[in-house]
Amino acid sequence: ERAPARFYLTRKWAAGCLKGRPPESHKGTFGHLLVLAGSRGKSGAAVLCARGALRAGVGLVTLVSAASLQPLLASYLPEALTWGLSPETPEGELSPECAGEILSRAERMRAAVLGPGFGLSEAAGQLARRLARELPVPTVLDADALTALSGRLEELKEARAPRVLTPHPGEMARLLGLPKEEIQARRLEIAREAARKSHQVVVLKGAATVVAAPDGREAVNSAGNPGLAQGGTGDVLSGLLGALLAQGYEPFEAACLAVYLHGAAGDLLSRRVGPFGFTASEVADALPRLFRELV
Ligand code: APR
Ligand code: MG
Repeated sequence: ERAPARFYLTRKWAAGCLKGRPPESHKGTFGHLLVLAGSRGKSGAAVLCARGALRAGVGLVTLVSAASLQPLLASYLPEALTWGLSPETPEGELSPECAGEILSRAERMRAAVLGPGFGLSEAAGQLARRLARELPVPTVLDADALTALSGRLEELKEARAPRVLTPHPGEMARLLGLPKEEIQARRLEIAREAARKSHQVVVLKGAATVVAAPDGREAVNSAGNPGLAQGGTGDVLSGLLGALLAQGYEPFEAACLAVYLHGAAGDLLSRRVGPFGFTASEVADALPRLFRELV
């Protein structure tokens, strides 16, 4: 068997991979991202995800939620378009009946993010599994969408377009049905196995985040610090990654670049603000400064 192409995600690698922004470009050039996130009590996940995407230069963001959450999300995110759909579940989640409308409107998008704060009810899980298979555009699967796919990675082989999965070790443990200790003891092999089972790109998060593609490419992050260990930073990562997919980066490259930029944003805040106590919103808001340093 051929040795896999493995490398470290560094500043030099990221600078070489970042696309420029031509003067004649317009918002269509940078893609329209669909964000399927948030439910009652977890609306912040949707806000942070969209914020990560907007700070990564995506052309347009549309945030889809249950109708009862739409006014709140719209008031938090003046730059995003919002849709409120019904019927919704008692938990303020999108319900399986919304699938048809989401899928038809997704045809006009360039990428999607599914999962942050999406909800963990049986109904929300059923919708998440259907969308994970049927969304017609490259899609980040994160958080509650990954929980809905516990033990069902193989279902993603049939997905209509590429997927990038971003589990933390607990989500990965559920995806593979293994104890969390085993995930942490063999991080690279585990990410490789999940990529092979799903035929999709997999990001195993945590200190020294690992990225694995089904074709054998793999990368290990050199950036980031424990200041990032705080609720909400994962939602920023999935939005940032979705924004890169919407801008036309290939899934493995998008995953690697997002993981590096997210870690580097944490490192910048660690130096400028302090080693911890910076927030997920600040991680999103630090992204433009990184782009300035890299281009
Ligand atoms: N070093 C570097 N990066 C780290 C470290 C560390 N020691 N610890 C965490 N990170 C990074 C991860 O790599 C990842 O990018 O912080 C991010 C954390 O993402 P998640 O674990 O997905 O956390 P998040 O979703 O923001 O918040 C936790 O998820 O499990 C649910 O219900 C839980 O609401 C909670 C939410
Ligand atoms: Mg998360």
